[in-house]
Amino acid sequence: MDADEIRTRLAQLRAGDLPTQGGRTLAYVYDSGLAEADAIGREALAAFASTNGLDPTAFPSLLQMENDLVGMAGRLVDAPEGFVGVATSGGTESILLAVLAARDGRPEVRAPRMVLPTTAHAAFHKAAHYFGVEPVLVPVDPESKRADPEAMAAAIDDRTVLVVASAPSYAHGVIDPVGPIAAAAAAAGVRCHVDACIGGWVLPHLRTAEPDQEPWTFAVDGVTSISVDLHKYAYTPKGISLLLHASSELRQPHLFASARWPGYTMLNTTMQSTKSGGPVAAAWAVVHHIGLDGYADLAAQARRATLELARSVADIAPLSLAARPDATLLAVTADETCDVFTVSDELLTRGWYAQPQMSCGDLPATLHFTLSAVAHRSSAEFASDLTGAVTAAVALGPAAPSAELVAAASSVDPQHLDEETFSGLLAVAGMADRTGRLVLPERMAPINALLDALPSQLREALLLGVVERLARPT
Ligand SMILES: Cc1ncc(COP(=O)(O)O)c(C=O)c1O
Repeated sequence: MDADEIRTRLAQLRAGDLPTQGGRTLAYVYDSGLAEADAIGREALAAFASTNGLDPTAFPSLLQMENDLVGMAGRLVDAPEGFVGVATSGGTESILLAVLAARDGRPEVRAPRMVLPTTAHAAFHKAAHYFGVEPVLVPVDPESKRADPEAMAAAIDDRTVLVVASAPSYAHGVIDPVGPIAAAAAAAGVRCHVDACIGGWVLPHLRTAEPDQEPWTFAVDGVTSISVDLHKYAYTPKGISLLLHASSELRQPHLFASARWPGYTMLNTTMQSTKSGGPVAAAWAVVHHIGLDGYADLAAQARRATLELARSVADIAPLSLAARPDATLLAVTADETCDVFTVSDELLTRGWYAQPQMSCGDLPATLHFTLSAVAHRSSAEFASDLTGAVTAAVALGPAAPSAELVAAASSVDPQHLDEETFSGLLAVAGMADRTGRLVLPERMAPINALLDALPSQLREALLLGVVERLARPT
């Protein structure tokens, strides 16, 4: 294919995706609304795409930019003298490394555990799965959706290697009471990680306007590490997060060296070995282009958009806030006249993407909104479309999967979901074509309502079945 054909084909492929700019995609993407910042980021991404962070002596520029970004982040989150950090590929990798370091920092603990609020990001469950650290889940306050520090303290025992808090949680956008949680961890001699993947680059810029923000940085005694994603509210191209540790001793367990083969001695600070310098260079470019004053403006815009949306929600009768938002994320519940899954479908038909979040234990299903700076430009239009979407959802009534489908799905044993059972389920769900191939429905509400009604293990098994069928060579 010649270059023009490729460009055309890529544009066609891209046209089927959600838009990344313009504020209509209210999850997954972050838009500063600053065209020049986006352009300089992409330019740096391209210029450094082929460099390799595997060897900092071969590409010293990458180490220099990484250290600079870590230094900036440290100043934002009140890092102590002697703190260190690394750039990773994203929030999940930062969390994996925080858990790995906590586990390997306590080699004497035979069956390690970590204490998590039920709202901690799924990346901690992935870390549990990868590294054999048992998650001890502590319910959050049902009203505020914040972690319960007393219950968390009570859950710490001599097998605990890590205690976790979020600033804010992704699902509900609230900051956990980090002070008492970190104090309990410190009293037990245990590490405390603050997951500020989503809040780390926006909350510090809101502190002047909102001085009563719940404290969550290294200024809180007992906080030993913090994750801060740049590819979220630093508005940099995807592929970069920072993991900061209060001291180099705390980082040590996730550094890796191997000289046990005849090739180069492999020396890695993170999970990746060969890694593109593109994301670090792009982040360095965007962060220095926007600057601290620029980020303060962007944070204020995103916060304004969040509070405006919160006010709109208060005016739309079937909707309520799942929690009072502490940052730039919002979760909304619906009463019995409609359901959040249908509202999500209706928003999509109006050109907005909001993310359905299923119920989990006692926490109800919600609709999630991540507000970027650019969202403040369309607050009024969005409020009007949200009202329209809710009116339509009420007219349709709550989504309900057929009794046949519920019965078929409920009878599945998640441990043994074979091809035949899964194909049968897809057929009953209307998600298979004549050849039995998986087709995603236009409206997701009935499927989401079904999944919402199932136990989480079964939900996981069914969705993995879908992913497994989608990920097939063409
Ligand atoms: C609080 C929090 N932690 C961790 C993550 C995981 O980050 P990533 O998707 O970059 O791996 C996210 C992503 O939204 C998040 O919001």
